[in-house]
Amino acid sequence: MQDFLKQLPKAELHLHIEGTLEPELMMALAERNGVTLPYASVEEVRRAYDFADLSAFLELYFLGMSVLRHEADFEDLAMDYLRRAHAEGVVHVEMHVDPQAHLARGVPLETVLNGLERARERAARELDISTALILAFLRDKPVEEAMQLLEAVEPYRERFAAVGLDSAELGHPPGRFAEVFQCARQMGLACVAHAGEEGPPAYIREALEQLQVCRVDHGVRCLEDPGLVETLRERGIVLTVCPLSNVSLKVVERLAEHPLPRLLEAGLRLTLSSDDPAYFGGGMLDNFAACREAFGWGEATFRQLAANAIDEAFMTEARRSELQ
Ligand code: HPA
Ligand code: ZN
Repeated sequence: MQDFLKQLPKAELHLHIEGTLEPELMMALAERNGVTLPYASVEEVRRAYDFADLSAFLELYFLGMSVLRHEADFEDLAMDYLRRAHAEGVVHVEMHVDPQAHLARGVPLETVLNGLERARERAARELDISTALILAFLRDKPVEEAMQLLEAVEPYRERFAAVGLDSAELGHPPGRFAEVFQCARQMGLACVAHAGEEGPPAYIREALEQLQVCRVDHGVRCLEDPGLVETLRERGIVLTVCPLSNVSLKVVERLAEHPLPRLLEAGLRLTLSSDDPAYFGGGMLDNFAACREAFGWGEATFRQLAANAIDEAFMTEARRSELQ
């Protein structure tokens, strides 16, 4: 089964590139850039990864990314991840990036975007991995800041496939960003948003109605609202579910209690992703293998989940038919 899961061509639709920063690279970049971290060793970094909830994780996530300063750091970060993904049978990766978090530290937009662009070109050439970039807005920051970012990104418009919404969910409903997402659509960008990870089903509904998202990141709390499940199913909206992330951030206590089997039974279109693999205990293959272990799914289920991701990916039709 492990061989089957490994060779299955997998598309990763829900990934934060800053969340792929492994402790080894974090320490190496801290040294290279003279950044002081509150950790003395790789082991100490790993020991800190015991999160009570999303907010507790985000604190370490923003701290970890403080080692990223130069274009080469972003290139190394992404290449390191893409090489690991390639070894796990991943053929396509869609990366959320959080420019606001870097701008706030004085790292210019072009540094972030040019570093990632170099990695994307190399991944296509060296690993035959296609990639797409998702411009994520931090939902706990002012709406005006998101609008300014969208304007600043105009010269780089062609590098992006979509806009997304991430960071602390509770108390930050998606509807606030309706105008930003409307402008993004006018620029020809697709729309996705995190909703229903920690937040209530009402946030998922808001993301659908006010942000007009084509995919919901996480969305696992939709089951609390049968009417919403019906809407998601009718519209064929994909939920990018991240099993190990949900365990790590205590959305569920154990994977065996995860709503994934019920989401499948409800007839929803699902994909599996790793979210922040360096922080949550594994990449795509680990997520697939954990589901096999917890739910005993057979090959047909994994084939369907992997096919859903390729069907829904932001990629050219030529690339899609190559992968189907
Ligand atoms: N949820 C919300 N925002 C995030 C996450 C997550 O898991 N990772 C990085 N930003
Ligand atoms: Zn996420």
